Amino acid sequence: MGVEIREMTIRDYEPVYALWSKSEGIGLSDADSKEGIKRFLARNPGFSFVAVDSGQIVGAALCGHDGRRGYIHHLSTSQSHRRQGIGRSLVGRCMYALMRIGIGKCHLFVFGDNQGAIDFWEQVGYAQRVELVMMSQQIAGG
Ligand SMILES: CC(C)(COP(=O)(O)OP(=O)(O)OC[C@H]1O[C@@H](n2cnc3c(N)ncnc32)[C@H](O)[C@@H]1OP(=O)(O)O)[C@@H](O)C(=O)NCCC(=O)NCCS
Repeated sequence: MGVEIREMTIRDYEPVYALWSKSEGIGLSDADSKEGIKRFLARNPGFSFVAVDSGQIVGAALCGHDGRRGYIHHLSTSQSHRRQGIGRSLVGRCMYALMRIGIGKCHLFVFGDNQGAIDFWEQVGYAQRVELVMMSQQIAGG
């Protein structure tokens, strides 16, 4: 049986959170609480996906949009299943879902020292925006 890619639902939260927690290069915060992810999935139905092998979640990608641009967060493949095309498939599903509703560009954040992920993103068609600096302000906890 092969690896299946299907839409992520809030019922997947615990195994997906466990996968993210084990993944180097993923920064988790209060925004990734069950309530936070529930709200994200409800606001962005049909854009986030999991990879499932024999009933076990082995990959996940959180994706959404603001009506203008798409965003992918926390793409992760379990160590045991890397370099099998799962990351590429998850991203492909996210991009297709965005394209279908007319979103023309997708952004994401990568830690600058996560060279493996940067190489991955370049392989699947992303380009570094070296002319930009990311800025954030804390509004409340989370
Ligand atoms: C980045 C990550 C999601 C890639 O997942 P994956 O399922 O192994 O990726 P794929 O098998 O689809 O890789 C597609 C191509 O990307 C490139 N690639 C993937 N991982 C790479 C790595 N660590 N170093 C260099 N190139 C890499 C390869 O060209 C690969 O094709 P190949 O295996 O035929 O050479 C996975 O390594 C991971 O979960 N890392 C930890 C979490 C993380 O850093 N996520 C990114 C957050 S922005």
